[in-house]
Order: sequence, then C-alpha cells, then structure tokens
Amino acid sequence: MAEAKKIGYGDLTGRVGVEEIRARGVDVDLLIKKLIANAAAEFSSTYYYYTILRMHLAGYEDYKEICEDARLEDRAHWELIVPRIYELGGELPNDLPTFHNQAGCAPAKLPSPPTAVNILTLLLESERCAIRSWSEICDMTFGKDPRTYDMASRILNEEIEHEAWFIELLARERDGRSIPSGHFRRGEPGDAPYSKNRQFYNP
Ligand SMILES: [Fe+2]
Ligand SMILES: [Fe+2]
Repeated sequence: MAEAKKIGYGDLTGRVGVEEIRARGVDVDLLIKKLIANAAAEFSSTYYYYTILRMHLAGYEDYKEICEDARLEDRAHWELIVPRIYELGGELPNDLPTFHNQAGCAPAKLPSPPTAVNILTLLLESERCAIRSWSEICDMTFGKDPRTYDMASRILNEEIEHEAWFIELLARERDGRSIPSGHFRRGEPGDAPYSKNRQFYNP
C-alpha cells in the first residue's frame, strides 16, 4: 500500500480521511464525480417518481403506495450520500440544471401514453440503472474506503428491493403473471430500512 500523504499539524488544506483512502487505491476525483452523478439520479428520480406516480397512477392505489416507498427511499439516498461528497472534498454544482444534467441515469419522465404498464416499465429500468451505478461505487470502494462502501451498500440493498417490487407489479399488470418480490410494503411510507439518516447515525 502506498504511503498516505502526510497532513501537517493544523493544516486545513488536506484531509487525512481522503489521503488514507487514496493511499489504498481509491481514485478520489473519480469517486466524487460518480457520487455527484448518483446523487443527481436520486434527486431527479424523487422528482419524477412523484410526478409520475402521484399524478398518473390514479386508480391504482396499491401501485401508488409501492412507488411512493421507492420515491421516499430515493430521497433518503440523496440525503445520505450528499454529506459524503463534501467530506471527500467535492461539492454539488451551484446550478440545478447543471446538476440535473450530470445524472448517471436517465430521468424517469412521464411515458406516452402514460399507462400503468409504461410507467412501471420505466420505473423498473430506472431501478436497474441505480443498481448498476451503486454496484460500481461498491466495487470502487470495497476494502479501501469503508465509509463510502457502507453508504453505497445500504443504498444498493434498497435498490435491489425496488427492482424486485417493479418486476412483481409489471409481471401482474402486463403479463398477468405472478413473480413475487419476496417483500411487502414498508411499515411506514419510505421507511428506508437500510439507508435512512437517523438509523445511520444512531444504528
Ligand atoms: Fe435510490
Ligand atoms: Fe430506487
């Protein structure tokens, strides 16, 4: 393992928490870039889920509720990961459109026509993109940056559940088939059992 850059006594121009993970092989600049892309994807999916589900799944109260869980958990993912970007020495773009355009996943915009099948398909693919993105962060940090890894793996746990939810709903709605997700709705909407901040800080 390379030697971590020494940070002098009282020196505020560097971070031991960054130099130690860099010495273990983390490309910190790339990690920050990917975390910002993932944060933008979480932020925009909260926005689009809200638009699409609340407004356009009228009459499908069961689907709405599951989608609301996914929306609120994406919001929890956004809240969880943003402080880590700053700890690593990064920052969010000051301009919202710039931030939005850096998202690592396409926004889940309302499909045309906005049928339940089309909406569920789009949301399923959005969860799949999130699984790929957070798996990449886990790969970059495993065994090197335990703090980012812990956060990313908590988020990944929920994204994998979200994919299973949408497979179940789409199978029923589109194909009339039963493909169980193995999960039921959260106890509270958007419970975020793995990623909510309160639990993270007070495990
Ligand atoms: Fe998410
Ligand atoms: Fe998700």
